[in-house]
Amino acid sequence: MSTPRDQLDGHRAVWAEVNAQFTDAAAEGMWRRPAITWGLFAHPEASLAALGDVAGREVLELGCGTAYLSGWLARAGARVVALDLSPAQLATARRCQRTIGPAFGLVEADGAVLPVRDAAVDIVVSEYGVAPWCDPDRWLAEAARVLRPDGRLVFLTSSVLAAMCVPAEGGVAGDRLLRGPADLRPVAWPGGGVEHHPSHGEWIALLGAHGFTVEALHELTPPAGEDDHAYYEIVSAAWAARWPAEDLWVARRQAK
Ligand SMILES: C[S@@+](CC[C@H](N)C(=O)[O-])C[C@H]1O[C@@H](n2cnc3c(N)ncnc32)[C@H](O)[C@@H]1O
Repeated sequence: MSTPRDQLDGHRAVWAEVNAQFTDAAAEGMWRRPAITWGLFAHPEASLAALGDVAGREVLELGCGTAYLSGWLARAGARVVALDLSPAQLATARRCQRTIGPAFGLVEADGAVLPVRDAAVDIVVSEYGVAPWCDPDRWLAEAARVLRPDGRLVFLTSSVLAAMCVPAEGGVAGDRLLRGPADLRPVAWPGGGVEHHPSHGEWIALLGAHGFTVEALHELTPPAGEDDHAYYEIVSAAWAARWPAEDLWVARRQAK
């Protein structure tokens, strides 16, 4: 089943706005970064080894945005296709491919309905792409379908704790629990957009139900003295130094 059309339209509108305000201007700087990093505070992949060796691997990125992560992966030798719902984000990604490179496939599609054949890819990756923005039951079913047996799923999303502490009007998480897990299945923010924030237990159950074995959950904390992210507000660096803010999941598609 696909995502409701009005929700997809809402997400396109939100990401056209975020692109115009922030991500288009930031994209070339992100593309030019020399190494693969994760999240708001740029944790090096070299120390986490969430992806493993990507050279020669078929990689599919879901909810790629301006596709800097796919750019880094292609530079590391992966054979990449990156997918996003937003024409605005993909237009920026295309410009970065032309001006910085390398080129790879860019596809406009819903991350919960993948135009990819079964068992076609080695790694599915998503950095704040499908995990918050798509129904987990739907996108995990699709990720499991397109991954080869033993293929790797790596995704980054906000912690459920951070989502519990964001004010109702949106903005930066505070030091009070403002909603419970049941309020996050899903949550509609006033600025538009519907987000999904399963608890850790729910992620483990969902991954298991879709044929994945969890290999790691890295709870990312910023290095001391790190600045706040330039435009993603959900947590400050000080908040993230104190409480878990970002979850990087690594799972393996079980062989049938
Ligand atoms: C936070 S960005 C992720 C990109 C990049 N890693 C980043 O952090 O800027 C979220 C992306 O998810 C995309 N998105 C939202 N709903 C989607 C859906 N149903 N299918 C695919 N992509 C979607 C948005 O268009 C947006 O580009």
